[in-house]
Amino acid sequence: MASVKVTTRDGQEHEIAIEDGLSLMETIRDAGIDEVLALCGGCCSCATCHVHIDPAFKDKLPEMSEDEDDLLDSSDHRDENSRLSCQIPMSAELDGMVVTVAEED
Ligand code: FES
Repeated sequence: MASVKVTTRDGQEHEIAIEDGLSLMETIRDAGIDEVLALCGGCCSCATCHVHIDPAFKDKLPEMSEDEDDLLDSSDHRDENSRLSCQIPMSAELDGMVVTVAEED
């Protein structure tokens, strides 16, 4: 079964099964991880779903929109692997991707 590995802020690793059609944010939230607040519900306007993505999977992710880029700019914890998890659709292609929940702003 395809899965992603999510590291939470306490350093714990969680292996979560991928369900097609969900976003990465929904995948993390549905697994009971509450650190990804996702206050806007996934409409790309809050940046509380910020994660760092395994660079090896960068090419498999959709390009970042201008809105996502602007929102990430508001974070003190942005790096070159930052993405908003609500903007990443899950598919079996992302099997094995490592994701780290970003520090809270
Ligand atoms: S959930 Fe608000 S930007 Fe992703």
